[in-house]
Amino acid sequence: MLRVEQISSKFPFSEAKNSMESANHGRDYDTYTAKMDAAVEAKVASLFSRFNIFFDGMVLVDAGSGTGLIAERIAQECESIGVSPQVFAIDISHAYSEFFSQQQSITTLFGDAAEQLFPDDSVAIKYYSTSGHEIASFGGGASRMVTAIQNSFRELQPGGQLLIRDFVKPENTGSILMELSETNGINQNQISLDTTIEHQSLSTLALFKQFHREFAGGNAFAFEEITIDGKTLIVLEPEWAYEFYMRKEYTNNWKNEIHEKYSYWTLAEAKDILEVAGFENVQVEPDPNQYMLSNWLEGQVNLYQQNQAGTLELLPFPATHMVISGNKPLR
Ligand SMILES: C[S@@+](CC[C@H](N)C(=O)[O-])C[C@H]1O[C@@H](n2cnc3c(N)ncnc32)[C@H](O)[C@@H]1O
Repeated sequence: MLRVEQISSKFPFSEAKNSMESANHGRDYDTYTAKMDAAVEAKVASLFSRFNIFFDGMVLVDAGSGTGLIAERIAQECESIGVSPQVFAIDISHAYSEFFSQQQSITTLFGDAAEQLFPDDSVAIKYYSTSGHEIASFGGGASRMVTAIQNSFRELQPGGQLLIRDFVKPENTGSILMELSETNGINQNQISLDTTIEHQSLSTLALFKQFHREFAGGNAFAFEEITIDGKTLIVLEPEWAYEFYMRKEYTNNWKNEIHEKYSYWTLAEAKDILEVAGFENVQVEPDPNQYMLSNWLEGQVNLYQQNQAGTLELLPFPATHMVISGNKPLR
């Protein structure tokens, strides 16, 4: 049995906590937690169905747990198959502490989940559910998640499993064409310079231009506007199309979300990074979010490429999310 005193709550990378707290200033947590918690069952299914190690007393770590609801549901899933785990939910933020008391069967702790918080060889399964992109965004970039993986490797017992479910960078580079609605809200030429921008009232095209203006201080990526077959199209790299269309519904918390880079690894990069860290049995799978695809993307954002004849061909959306799994070798 792992005792809480054996777990460190260190915040050695206090910059991550500070930059996250300032980015989250003014966040509407009711909307934010409601959106996160709405996706709980899909996330639990994605993670739990991939667990490949079970025994009574196994230490399970939810790294970047938010409200702790996923950890709670994972504990219930284990109990439903006759396994009693010790579940620890770690988060860097105190913003969710009012939700914690409702979770009876898990231990909630504060700490930076990129650091080693658990003793060597003590954890059976550690998972990062939609938290890796925040660890990267507020911890100095994608390399912070590489550090998190290396530290997780130390914490895991031989045979232990690491799972990461998160956004995924589109594999393709080069340019694609993106068509966005100009008529579902206010357009750029209707916004005067001295007006405070109400992001939720903008058309999707105007919201994209606002994204380009605001993300990472502005002009973080290049785009061009062209017209083909009477359609206004944005020419840009798939990574930036993804960064925009994956956040276009988050206008309630736009000012906070703009500080986050959602995608940090492609499927292939994720596999390499785990293998280099020493993991074996590494599986990296697309995990499409059907709700997002059906309700926010298909028919609302069109991605195209132009064929040799110059005709526009509709492209499928790249994976919205991925699940990465790897085991620490037995010896
Ligand atoms: C998008 S929420 C995901 C919450 C939950 N895991 C889920 O899937 O619904 C990201 C969470 O990661 C936490 N987080 C961000 N950076 C962190 C870090 N360095 N260490 C621990 N938690 C962190 C945030 O406070 C937030 O609760």
